Amino acid sequence: MEAVECIATRRSVRRYTDQPVEKETIEKLVHEAQYAPTWKNSQTTRFTAVTGKAVLEQVRAAMPDYNQRSSENAPLLLCVSAVTHRSGYERDGSATTPLGEGYTFFDCGATVQTFCLAAHEAGLATLIMGIFDVDKVRTALNLPESEVPVVIVACGHAADAPQMPKRRATEEVLRIL
Ligand SMILES: Cc1cc2nc3c(=O)[nH]c(=O)nc-3n(C[C@H](O)[C@H](O)[C@H](O)COP(=O)(O)O)c2cc1C
Repeated sequence: MEAVECIATRRSVRRYTDQPVEKETIEKLVHEAQYAPTWKNSQTTRFTAVTGKAVLEQVRAAMPDYNQRSSENAPLLLCVSAVTHRSGYERDGSATTPLGEGYTFFDCGATVQTFCLAAHEAGLATLIMGIFDVDKVRTALNLPESEVPVVIVACGHAADAPQMPKRRATEEVLRIL
């Protein structure tokens, strides 16, 4: 698939079949996500891939009903977390720019988008979910205190082919001076 076609046809999918995603596929997609650029190559994004029934249930229980419904049957819930106070910071711990921790999340977003595009290219669908109970997810996955869970990405085989939600006109978001 051409890069632009992949970018343009990736969609957030909210219906999945229960067909599993193999361990080798998860490893490949996370490896490809690691090609994303990061602040000073700090690479602070971490992935916890949940495929086991019991833990899947615990993660789902931390999500609001609509996200539980949207990710129902998805065989993989990928918790994407970020190591804090590295990206955007100096070695002495001071923030390099006024955006401070913002670059942690910038890097995480670029990495997640790269994952979603790699998954799309591999014939898999994704849904990024930002709304969940952070403490419940932290406990269920035993995440270290040095990381903050940022999004949960549902991933699997699509059972739906949604239309693209309308984008703003480019003139509205672009200034050329
Ligand atoms: C940071 C972030 C958080 C999101 N959280 C949710 C969510 O909790 N639930 C949901 O259904 N969609 C969520 N989405 C998906 C967006 O609604 C979706 O990307 C947007 O409507 C554009 O649709 P598209 O991805 O098909 O282009 C999230 C997307 C991003 C980038």
